Amino acid sequence: MSKTFYIETFGCQMNAHDSEKVVGTLKQEGYTQVSDEAEAGLILYNTCSIRDKAEQKVFHRLNEYKRMQGEGKKFAVIGCVAQQEGQRIFERAPYVSLVAGSASYRNLPDMLQRLEAGETRITGLDDRQTEETFDTEFTSRSNPHRGYITIIEGCDKFCSYCVVPYTRGKERSRTSASVLAEAQRIAALGYTEIQLLGQNVNSYRDPSGSRTFAELLLAIGEVNGIRRVRFTTSHPRDFTKDIVDAIDAMPALCDHVHLPVQSGSTDVLRAMQREYTRDWYLERIQWTKDAKRDISLTSDIIVGFPGETDRDFEQTITLLEAVGYDAIYGFKYSPRPNTPAIHKHDSIPEEVKVQRLAILNARQREIQRQNYARHLNHTVEVMVEGHNTTRGQVIGRSSQNKTVNFTCDTIPSIGSYIDVNVTQVFPNSLVGEAVSSPLPPSAALLAQQALNARMPALA
Ligand code: SAH
Ligand code: SF4
Ligand code: F3S
Repeated sequence: MSKTFYIETFGCQMNAHDSEKVVGTLKQEGYTQVSDEAEAGLILYNTCSIRDKAEQKVFHRLNEYKRMQGEGKKFAVIGCVAQQEGQRIFERAPYVSLVAGSASYRNLPDMLQRLEAGETRITGLDDRQTEETFDTEFTSRSNPHRGYITIIEGCDKFCSYCVVPYTRGKERSRTSASVLAEAQRIAALGYTEIQLLGQNVNSYRDPSGSRTFAELLLAIGEVNGIRRVRFTTSHPRDFTKDIVDAIDAMPALCDHVHLPVQSGSTDVLRAMQREYTRDWYLERIQWTKDAKRDISLTSDIIVGFPGETDRDFEQTITLLEAVGYDAIYGFKYSPRPNTPAIHKHDSIPEEVKVQRLAILNARQREIQRQNYARHLNHTVEVMVEGHNTTRGQVIGRSSQNKTVNFTCDTIPSIGSYIDVNVTQVFPNSLVGEAVSSPLPPSAALLAQQALNARMPALA
């Protein structure tokens, strides 16, 4: 049982992908992954601390782990709560042997050896010192069609409410050559979709100086076999027009931009230290609206930030209407340790936060109802993600990242691409019927090669 492990992951896509890399590293070190924690010699818990007393939840979960003590198990807490709480985790949960934040994962093989040698208080904590990224060719990918690639780690933006700059270290980018090599490697394995990841992907700075972020997007879009390229998250401050131009120029770049605004009020944005105004944001939105392609826009919004007035909140609602997002992720402000905003009085009562979030979501639902109607009787290309056998439907996703449920004469394999005529629209999904035969992933690769061959050379 000693060289078996079980991993549980919370948080964002960066964390999900970190776990894929951690799993790959563990397997490389001779460990076997098990799906039942009872069978595991090592239990890893990859944590998130973005909101809602996350650290309390972690300690609660660790208490549950404690009940498993005495069975010779070892415990590791990794991720954002590990970096945030550091040594305090050993104090509150002495049966934990390893505490490591994401900026130290490149040292995992060494930490694992120390763990095997019986050390009990191993830390991999990094207080914004490292310049290095965690690149590994041993990534154990959980999806065989969509591959995540981290292009930039950490965050230097220090929004006043956010823990990430303290939990993930400083901003550091991988060379575009290493990103491209990873893209080519996974394309050769049959992956057709790539999602570039970073807390702020468009703050990407190629250490070799060879490519801007937009040029990297174009280069990834040209990789043979890659049919869809996504990227998340974009920061409005570093969002440049050449990103929109790249989407217009390169069909493989998905027509979707996630550009979190957080608030529609310039006063609140200033208090959040977001470093842009409402008008600056709306100007970037206008670039995407002026694009030749129909670029879908989505956002994150925080309600109830300290000092947010009714008028500020109203400005968020009018911004929703001005932009016409296809989806938003709304959050109630949650005071976080170490952040500057923790020193402000959390002035908005919980019931007002709840009410504002409900108003926000209701308004957004109406906007989506109208927005999604534009797809009625149109054809969208869908990548098949699953089958709903009870409803006899196939489930997939459009380039705009919208869920599409459709009927089809044959059962298309997961990962294949198929054209769907939209016959019904809902605020969160499209419904339709297949109008082409499915293009299996291997054929998608060949078709993309042919398309690339026809593309005019890109600067
Ligand atoms: N780097 C990205 C996303 C970071 S975290 C960006 O800047 O957009 C994902 C989302 O969580 C944020 O966009 C924000 O909306 C939300 N969030 C972060 N800290 C929060 C807090 N303290 N309270 C509530 N929501 C928060
Ligand atoms: Fe947090 Fe702001 Fe960095 Fe996003 S840009 S991760 S919200 S500090
Ligand atoms: Fe959570 Fe860390 Fe991601 S705090 S949202 S796992 S960067």
